[in-house]
Amino acid sequence: MNTPQPGILLPPPNLARYLSFSLNEKACTVECLAALREQLDGEMTVAGFGASLVQTLGARIPGLKPFPTITAPGLTIENAPDAVWLWLRGDDRGELLHRSRRLTQLLSPAFLLKETWDAFKYREGRDLSGYEDGTENPTDDDAIAAAIASAENPVLAGSSFVATQRWIHDFRRFEAMPSETQDHAIGRRQSDNEELDDAPPSAHVKRTAQESFSPEAFLLRRSMPWAERMDGGLMFVAFGKSFDAFEAQLKRMTGAEDGIVDAIFDFTQPVSGAYFWCPPLRDGKLDLTLLGIK
Ligand code: HEM
Repeated sequence: MNTPQPGILLPPPNLARYLSFSLNEKACTVECLAALREQLDGEMTVAGFGASLVQTLGARIPGLKPFPTITAPGLTIENAPDAVWLWLRGDDRGELLHRSRRLTQLLSPAFLLKETWDAFKYREGRDLSGYEDGTENPTDDDAIAAAIASAENPVLAGSSFVATQRWIHDFRRFEAMPSETQDHAIGRRQSDNEELDDAPPSAHVKRTAQESFSPEAFLLRRSMPWAERMDGGLMFVAFGKSFDAFEAQLKRMTGAEDGIVDAIFDFTQPVSGAYFWCPPLRDGKLDLTLLGIK
């Protein structure tokens, strides 16, 4: 029986590394993916594959597509046509570095390492703005229902679809906002995480309230803060049984539905976006049958 990659459903780790790869030497793609399959457990390292790779292999994953180009006033989100995405979970930076090196070697020369981002848990699981992130995440069976494709489409059973976006915060701008304006941008009070009834409709949690969509738009968010030199922000990572919930939320956030733009854009901007299919495990290994790799 196919089961989801366990790292998707576990709480975010203390430290992580995100690696993204582009296609390079196509002739050895299958060989490199077969080698990767032998090394991944789906728990310490979660793997996703992009539409560009699936197309190169002449395969088809129902529901997988390139990240849509999204534009809103003053905003363009670049689509990153990455072929492979790896989320290395851990608690030791040295071990994460060595695991990254090993996995990059395994994928070479079929894939070229494009980006590496180090991420970490901030305090008890907050965004770098200081707000708790993940409060309204579904849990247990609800998490599985939101994040894992099920019997509705037997071909995909145990699979998940992940949307990733790197957001960069403008800390100076955020810190210049009075604390009440900050709380109204999120829709929760930073001091005690209480949801604010009087927050404006532009408040992030009002824009994204999962039950308010039709159909309801539940996501399993596993975002983590990233930092480099003096810059930082959120590596937004959301797993879904399809991309529908993510797209419905992003559409409302950008104001495409009713002209009201999510107030988090006042202090943070996405700089990239990508979609991947996360295959299930079979007998403890990635099941790559849908990619034509037996
Ligand atoms: C830098 C970018 C972002 C930051 C800092 C951020 C931060 C937060 C915070 C602090 C919360 C409240 C606590 C919680 O329930 O987790 C929240 C809720 C939420 N966010 Fe975000 N978020 C970001 C981007 C996004 C994006 C791009 C989406 C989806 C497209 C999204 C979807 C959600 C959802 C679904 C909720 C829960 C809403 C509910 O049902 O109450 N967020 N976010």
